[in-house]
Amino acid sequence: DGAETLVPRPPVVCVMGHVDHGKTSLLDAIRDTHVIDREAGGITQHIGAYVVTINGQKITFLDTPGHEAFTAMRMRGANSTDIAILVVAADDGVMPQTVEAINHAKAAGIEIIVAINKIDKPSANIERVKQELTEYELIPEDWGGSTIFCPVSAHTHEGIDNLLEMILLTSEVLELKANPNRRARGLVIEAELDKGKGPVATVLVQKGTLHVGDPIAVGSCHGKVRAMMDDNGRRVKEAGPSKPVEILGLNDVPNAGEIFVSPETDKEARAFAETYVKESREKLIEDTKLKMSLDDLY
Ligand code: GTP
Ligand code: NA
Ligand code: MG
Repeated sequence: DGAETLVPRPPVVCVMGHVDHGKTSLLDAIRDTHVIDREAGGITQHIGAYVVTINGQKITFLDTPGHEAFTAMRMRGANSTDIAILVVAADDGVMPQTVEAINHAKAAGIEIIVAINKIDKPSANIERVKQELTEYELIPEDWGGSTIFCPVSAHTHEGIDNLLEMILLTSEVLELKANPNRRARGLVIEAELDKGKGPVATVLVQKGTLHVGDPIAVGSCHGKVRAMMDDNGRRVKEAGPSKPVEILGLNDVPNAGEIFVSPETDKEARAFAETYVKESREKLIEDTKLKMSLDDLY
């Protein structure tokens, strides 16, 4: 679509780490909410997407589960974001899913900021965590490395302002930009079938602006955006780059991690979904090919 006008967009930050190291608590502290109280067994089982405004600057956070069963979600989280916050509990140190999260973030080529959490605990050992992480090439600046380490406590809120400042500084260096003035394209973060509302998809807009009424296609699903809700459950009419929204209007439940596009017409959206079905039938194994051709088309 000719010359693209790129404008700054908020960073998308994925919070990752071992189970119960305090990812959701940290986001609760940042947002002043109590999401953790509503989780079954205190275990996060989905990706939560939240927008936080700090001194007028927005940050989009994705909370990911730390339980070992949710590898795919952590991978999707890392693949859709600019920065990873690696949460490591100061009393527990580096654990299997800490290492897994480091590997996902490295594979995705995103910046890693280490948040050493639970520093309020008497058994906290910040130096030990730093030492353990050197094995994974995460070396603090005061030890001659280049990784930012932020000691924090989700309980006392100590260090949280500093962590947010570091996220904003890191994102400034990345000079994140997108064109809001084009048809929307982005990723499905998660999706489910709601008894009353039908297929509901949480999507992250990466380019362009998605509006209520826009045709949409993702994988073999298509439709028209019937309604959109922001992370506070408020109805919104449009969503620009880096904004997560819940959308209604798809004819079926798409797969998480899939790319969505918003073509000009309903006909194109349907054709997109049909092509996808045909292509995936023909190329069951090469699923990357379609994604690559998408890059050329949209
Ligand atoms: P999963 O999403 O299930 O992987 O867990 P999580 O990483 O989101 O951890 P969660 O926020 O559920 O916290 C796990 C436990 O650690 C809870 O009991 C929290 O109250 C506790 N916790 C979290 N942060 C802190 C902290 O800064 N200090 C102390 N003392 N406890 C904390
Ligand atoms: Na938990
Ligand atoms: Mg959690």
